[in-house]
Amino acid sequence: MNDTSATRPGRLTNLVPALLLALLVGIMTSAGPAHAQSAAAEGQQLAFDIGKGNCLSCHVIKGGDLPGTIGPELKDIKSKFPDRNELVAILNDETKRNPRTVMPPFGRNRILTEPEINAIVDFLQTL
Ligand code: HEC
Repeated sequence: MNDTSATRPGRLTNLVPALLLALLVGIMTSAGPAHAQSAAAEGQQLAFDIGKGNCLSCHVIKGGDLPGTIGPELKDIKSKFPDRNELVAILNDETKRNPRTVMPPFGRNRILTEPEINAIVDFLQTL
């Protein structure tokens, strides 16, 4: 007689895929415009991470604590290096520019992956 109790579980299970779809669409649409911003934020995290870039051990960088001064302060990067490929090259293997540098060849030594280097370069370009 009362058929709502019979259909209720059915309705609920029908709702699950719809909710998942709504969630997916939400994630996909929110990822787009925020991308550049989040890549730079991720790059900052990687640059400051002791187990990753650890750039602060040698460079003064805005927003970072207890920096070392073995390397030059990283600032005005966009005017010094208008071409981001130059920065990618420096992070990949600075020994190519300066064979006697103490800066680790992050790409060549696989301390950082290519996407990680690109995220750090995005961050450097905000300095
Ligand atoms: C062990 C010390 C050391 C570490 C760690 C280090 N660097 Fe360096 N870096 C240097 C030195 C020294 C130079 C100066 C140029 C040279 O030696 O060839 C330099 C130069 C640079 C330059 C060129 C700056 C300019 O004005 O010419 C950039 C950009 C740079 N480093 C970015 C980074 C980033 C990003 C990280 C972290 C992923 C990092 N460095 C980690 C020592 C270091």
